[in-house]
Amino acid sequence: MLVIGIGLRSGTSYRELRDLVDTALDGLDRGAVGRVVTVDGKESETGLQRLVASLGAELFTASALDLSRQPVPSPSDQVGHLIGTASVAEAAVILSGAELVVPKQRSARATVAVGRLPFVDGTAAAPGYALRDRDVVHRVIAERRDVRRGFLDQPIADDVLTRVLESAHRAPSVGLSQPWDFVLIRDVATRRKIRDLAVAQRDAFAASLPVDRRAAFDGLKVEAILDTPLNIAVTCDPGRGGRHVLGRHADPRTTWFSAAIAVQNLWLAARAEGLGVGWVSFFEPGEVAAVLDLPAHVELLGYLCVGQVDEFAAAPELVRSGWAARRPLAWAVHHEAWGQRGLPGETASRATAVQAAVNAAVDAVGEAVATDSRRVARVVVVEGGAVEDYLTSAEVLVVQVGAERPAADFGVLWRPARQPDEAVELGVEVARDLVLQGAGELLVDCPGESELAESLAQGLRWGGLACGVAVRRVDEPGR
Ligand SMILES: Cc1cc2nc3c(=O)[nH]c(=O)nc-3n(C[C@H](O)[C@H](O)[C@H](O)COP(=O)(O)O)c2cc1C
Repeated sequence: MLVIGIGLRSGTSYRELRDLVDTALDGLDRGAVGRVVTVDGKESETGLQRLVASLGAELFTASALDLSRQPVPSPSDQVGHLIGTASVAEAAVILSGAELVVPKQRSARATVAVGRLPFVDGTAAAPGYALRDRDVVHRVIAERRDVRRGFLDQPIADDVLTRVLESAHRAPSVGLSQPWDFVLIRDVATRRKIRDLAVAQRDAFAASLPVDRRAAFDGLKVEAILDTPLNIAVTCDPGRGGRHVLGRHADPRTTWFSAAIAVQNLWLAARAEGLGVGWVSFFEPGEVAAVLDLPAHVELLGYLCVGQVDEFAAAPELVRSGWAARRPLAWAVHHEAWGQRGLPGETASRATAVQAAVNAAVDAVGEAVATDSRRVARVVVVEGGAVEDYLTSAEVLVVQVGAERPAADFGVLWRPARQPDEAVELGVEVARDLVLQGAGELLVDCPGESELAESLAQGLRWGGLACGVAVRRVDEPGR
């Protein structure tokens, strides 16, 4: 499919545009033109509309900001100055994902460029959404928030709620088993019972925190059960569909994944409708199930507080309060195998992975976590063996290297490094994740003679220092 990018002044005639396009398409198949793209605001130009109709194409627009971000081969200072982009025509083609085949051509009042959308096995790739629609999708994902404050005492219209639930119900599910159900809870007495359960869990969590972290937690609001007119309990029936559900046999967790995706769909659709949603997980799920009289084969997946809000914050509350920081995408993307991290097009080789990890930490963490809520993280690194001896207090994190997985316990972090360089890299990663979760100083203890444990401790040192936090070895004070 061919894409035509057009920049034009207001009032440019159909004839001028047609002549310009005919010249640009010389030698190309006019019938293959499927899209015309221009800058926002020009879609109402009658000359342009007539041109698009004569080509049998669809008209799309893009914002001047998006266009200005495209690197174009034929920039023009004048146009750049006028609307913020160096060439609307070429930028529009490039932004469409097309490959530029005819660079910018110009008439008195307009510019045109032509591009070709990639072919897969000789077939034109199915088009994505129009640029503006695409932007909306990415926007709703970026602007979805977990909301716990600022709920308004206003009911939710049934048609709005139905649309939101419809979106949740459209979620993908393993074998199309659709294991979710939605329990709508409005009754205040029921919500009070649920709130009491959450308060008890909140108190238990607070009691488990180091003293310096507890004060910061006290300032956080973790639920809005009585603040919203509606609570929704999303449940999961792990057996739904019976024995032959396609795709579930090898990995039963897929049922739970499916139900969690339904929550995400709900969350996004609610954001688009202007409804705030807060997910509360301060529960022992069986206790909520008892209050809601769930049948024994159905389990609680998520508990959501839903309502109109006064605003949607630009960033997660845990980030704004300084409790935690977001993990950069580049840390989460690996190329081909674990460890070669980087954004698409920025592959880091394994040899440089540690350095890249350290650099990324410096860039990303910065002052992200507020200094006043930072805590001292005490970390003991050991290889294999019994770890109970090291779990001397609830504040200690034991990092265990070695092949054997320890019993599940949030106090024990298993990092089965095979080589010293891998242990260093894992140590860097543990350090930066601790800093993202509010650690302001690392106290590292590495008893024993293990080379792997020592390497991981070295990684903790590098990662911590790279993130700008102090790292002290408690077993070797002079070091
Ligand atoms: C499974 C799950 C459980 C959560 N439980 C709680 C909770 O109990 N209390 C709370 O305040 N936030 C809870 N959250 C919200 C997260 O803190 C929030 O999603 C995260 O900080 C990122 O913020 P954002 O959703 O605004 O982007 C939960 C989120 C998820 C996905």
